[in-house]
Amino acid sequence: MELTDIVKPLLTWYDGNARILPWREDASPYRVWVSEIMLQQTRVEAVKPYFERFTRELPDIQALAQVPEDRLLKLWEGLGYYNRVRNMQKAARKVAQEFAGELPADYEQLLALPGIGSYTAGAIASIAYQICVPAVDGNVLRVVSRLTASRDDILKQSVKKRMEQQVGAVIPAERPGAFNQALMELGAMVCVPNGMARCDGCPLRELCEARKQGIVMELPRKTPK
Ligand code: ADE
Repeated sequence: MELTDIVKPLLTWYDGNARILPWREDASPYRVWVSEIMLQQTRVEAVKPYFERFTRELPDIQALAQVPEDRLLKLWEGLGYYNRVRNMQKAARKVAQEFAGELPADYEQLLALPGIGSYTAGAIASIAYQICVPAVDGNVLRVVSRLTASRDDILKQSVKKRMEQQVGAVIPAERPGAFNQALMELGAMVCVPNGMARCDGCPLRELCEARKQGIVMELPRKTPK
C-alpha cells in the first residue's frame, strides 16, 4: 500500500459522510481558528453551542481583540483551560496590529502567534486557505499508525514528525482542507480507539496494513516497551 492510494476513497467517503458543522458551513479563517481551539479540549457536540455563542458575540478578530477580559472568560466558561482563550486574545491583538485584522495565510506566520501550534496552524492554513500542509492530531496519528501498521510510539516527537511528513506528502493540491478533515473525521467516527474500530464501515479497509496483519486493536502504540 502506498499512502497516496487513500486519497480518492477517503475524499469520496468524506463527501458522503462529513458531519454538517457550523465551522464547516462558513470556514472563514477566524471561525476555523475558534473551532480548532475549542475542539482541542472538548467533543464536537459539546463545542457547537459554545462556538455559536462565541462567534455571535465576537464575530471577528477585531471584536475578540477588544472584548473586556471578564466578558471573554464568561464566554469560555465551561470549556476550561482559560489560558487558551487568553492566548487567543493576545494573538487577536497581534493580528489586529501586524496583519490588519486578518489571520495570515502562511503556515510559519500562523505558528508564530500565541497559542497556535503545528496542529492549529496546519488546520487554519489548509481548511481556511487551501494551503497544502498537514494538520495531524491524535485522531490522525491513530489512523496513520493503523494504515501503515506502525508500531512506533506516537507520543514521540520524532514519530509525530515522520507521520506529519507522510501525510504532507500525499495531500491533494485541490482539496487540502477536505483531506485533512477527512482523516480527522475517519479517526473520530470509524477508526476509533481500542477495540471499538468500525472496520466494516471503513472506506480504507482494503488498504489498511494493520487490518491485514490483524493488529488494529494493538495500535497506536503510546509507550515504548
Ligand atoms: N477535530 C478537531 N478539528 C476537527 C475538524 N476540523 N474536523 C473533524 N474533527 C475535528
